[in-house]
Amino acid sequence: MALPSPRVPDPTSVPPLRWGILGPGAIAASWASTVLKNSTQRIVAVASQTPGRAEEFARRFDVAAWHTRYEDLVAREDVDAVYVANQPNDHAQAALLALEAGKHVLVEKPFTKDVAEAERVFARAHEVGRLVMEAMWTRYLPQTDVARQLVESGAIGEPYLALSSFCEDNRSQERMWRKGHGSPLWDMGIYPIAFSQMFLGEPVEVASTGRVLDSGIDTDSTTTLTYATGARAVFAVSGIASSPLEAAVSGPEGVIRFEAPFIFPTAVGFDGPGLGAPTEWWRDESGITRHEGLVYQVIAFADYVSRGLLESPWQSHEDSLACLRLATEITRQLGADPY
Ligand SMILES: NC(=O)c1ccc[n+]([C@@H]2O[C@H](COP(=O)([O-])OP(=O)(O)OC[C@H]3O[C@@H](n4cnc5c(N)ncnc54)[C@H](OP(=O)(O)O)[C@@H]3O)[C@@H](O)[C@H]2O)c1
Repeated sequence: MALPSPRVPDPTSVPPLRWGILGPGAIAASWASTVLKNSTQRIVAVASQTPGRAEEFARRFDVAAWHTRYEDLVAREDVDAVYVANQPNDHAQAALLALEAGKHVLVEKPFTKDVAEAERVFARAHEVGRLVMEAMWTRYLPQTDVARQLVESGAIGEPYLALSSFCEDNRSQERMWRKGHGSPLWDMGIYPIAFSQMFLGEPVEVASTGRVLDSGIDTDSTTTLTYATGARAVFAVSGIASSPLEAAVSGPEGVIRFEAPFIFPTAVGFDGPGLGAPTEWWRDESGITRHEGLVYQVIAFADYVSRGLLESPWQSHEDSLACLRLATEITRQLGADPY
């Protein structure tokens, strides 16, 4: 069976937006380098509340303007869209600031630190008529769209089981262990959460166990979700132990497997039911690798703006809220308190 081609817009055919960046740290640097290398999008300004950081970033990426206050960036008339890349507990405030100034907003994952904040941001976005989208970049990778089309075409039948994991020794990643800025569940676990939600929706039962530090930060968790259809999702998250980042979704007619690490541009395979069934692979041969894959969500975002969309068709506001509700429930069951 020939696998479908991904429906990813051609980066050169999408009208370029003029971007401003808030919180130019590690991921903003990866974002800027792939956007400049792999798209026609433009970065016109950057703002950081950390002294010296915006200027350093601007010089590194040849960005014309830098600011020490987010307010000054969002007030710029030459900025169409804002990329919010600071810490999760500051996402909502930054996103609202950008919306009030009339900008479209792309917000890093996890979208906000809780559901109430996310609801406020989405409600305001609808009121002011601007696109707000969670930067859940895995939803925009070409391989994900191959999988999406396979599921939509009924290739695996009704999805019945989603297995995924994000286990990586991230003990040196300071932000993950700093109270108020997330945790392995909110930082890494949000990917398996989003993966499960994409194929199976919102569960009716959640069962999670794991370990939590005295600080309230979770270190590891294993979660089983049960859906009204009887389908299940199972995922493991660890910020200490590493294992291949696997993901697969299956149904009675077959399985769609993502090559590890599933969060990067890799490959997706399909095989029919039964052990040893031959696998058909779609492989990403674009030359866009690892975090360069962040560019796909930016191209999709610009495409949506050009079409006047206020939500991403590949991750609606309700999808982001469902992911946050699940992260909240898992946190409660673990007895964690990361924020
Ligand atoms: N998509 C991905 O693959 C990916 C990968 C890594 C992270 N992320 C997400 O991206 C966001 C930022 O992560 P990052 O790794 O880029 O973080 P980072 O480099 O540690 O910091 C990013 C920005 O957050 C603010 N910040 C950093 N430390 C802070 C502190 N102690 N107190 C208050 N603000 C602080 C700063 O904003 P100012 O410059 O304004 O001071 C900084 O520039 C998070 O939501 C994270 O989950 C996504």
